[in-house]
Amino acid sequence: GNALNGRIAIGGAKNAALPLMVASLLTADTLVLSRAPRLADIRTLTELLRQHGVEIDMYAAGAGHEMSLRTPAITSTTAPYDIVRKMRASALVPGPLVARCGQARVSLPGGCAIGTRPVDLHIRGLQQMGAAIELESGYIEAKAPKGLRGAEIVFPFVSVGATENLMMAACLAKGETRLVNAAREPEVADLAHCLVAMGAEIDGIGSDTVIIQGRDSLHGARHEIIADRIEAGSFAIAAGMAGGCLELDGIELGLIGIAAETLRAAGLTLESIPKGIRVTAERGGIIGTDVMTEPFPGFPTDLQAQMMALLSVANGASMVTETIFENRFMHVPELVRMGANINLHQASAMIRGVPHLTGAPVMATDLRASMCLVLAGLAAQGETVISRVYHLDRGYERLEEKLAGCGADIERVREGG
Ligand code: UD1
Repeated sequence: GNALNGRIAIGGAKNAALPLMVASLLTADTLVLSRAPRLADIRTLTELLRQHGVEIDMYAAGAGHEMSLRTPAITSTTAPYDIVRKMRASALVPGPLVARCGQARVSLPGGCAIGTRPVDLHIRGLQQMGAAIELESGYIEAKAPKGLRGAEIVFPFVSVGATENLMMAACLAKGETRLVNAAREPEVADLAHCLVAMGAEIDGIGSDTVIIQGRDSLHGARHEIIADRIEAGSFAIAAGMAGGCLELDGIELGLIGIAAETLRAAGLTLESIPKGIRVTAERGGIIGTDVMTEPFPGFPTDLQAQMMALLSVANGASMVTETIFENRFMHVPELVRMGANINLHQASAMIRGVPHLTGAPVMATDLRASMCLVLAGLAAQGETVISRVYHLDRGYERLEEKLAGCGADIERVREGG
């Protein structure tokens, strides 16, 4: 129930860091990534990349961490089920592996808490670039012994991961690749900028048509990972729920995009300050607002759960529609247990604001859903105990420290529990 006041440093974006790390498979030289966040997903990907032959070091540098990745040779082209099942970003490795050494054997990711999340677009794109694909014992086997060739790939719908995977593959393919209806997320553009620094030729960065001219090889580079817009948006919502004033350090307001407009419509004040964003909110001043998740530049699905926590204490009603994932409302029953008034109908949730939430024992189900419960707990009357917080560590660095530093009454009582 405490108001939040203070400064919070925003880290490098998890969803930019993961594909950037994978890009190190494309060259024998060293790729140095600065502003690397320390997160469980980064550790999982480190484990996967190491067994492909990537030498990885992470060390403190300045305000953040620097990561150095070097792949003198690909020592294994297999991405095993044990690691892939932990993290969907593993789906990014087949493109670079086939592009660099003509083959990849990658476990299918399987289902996950927020839907079936297939990889058919990744597979189809690689086939169009000349890879022969077979499915065997739960593994995708991709082979292109003579290398990949450029192609025109038209995505039937937007996929962040497929755009990234095929963009990386195209950098080492023969000739030109056009990715049409490509994802325009800032993290995709960040990857493209890094690939250009590594010697790739890419046009249309940040647009829905990306054109890549293949090269024989890429070289090393240094690259600073962009700020995490989802982390920043989550803390902005925390200020909205608890009331107070937070300064989010190291991110520009423009990067938050339409989420800033949505938060303003919900009654928060967001303004640019030197090297950051100031968020001010009055407790009890939240206004019901309709939200629909969409590919960038639309409202990000990765902020949907957190936004729903905010709207559950708004004045008036809100409709939240999820268009990206078919099963991303797992936080709803938990919010309802805390006193929220939410009705689900297919892909939409009708939220009728209540004056306050009440603390309860709740269970985290996925990364963003766990943040939604933390936010709800901050504003609720009484104590909230969240179990399975390991989900949080996949995407939020030192969350309880950052919030407690601004006045929140939050502590981790058991590691990983
Ligand atoms: C990325 C983000 C994730 C975010 C999501 C949507 C990373 C590491 N993760 O995930 O946090 O929630 O974008 O912004 O960057 N799909 C298919 N076939 C495919 C690929 C995707 O049907 O081959 C579907 C998915 O099931 C989903 C939708 O397309 O319904 C969008 O998925 P996609 O954009 O690929 O998400 P990810 O890259 O997995």
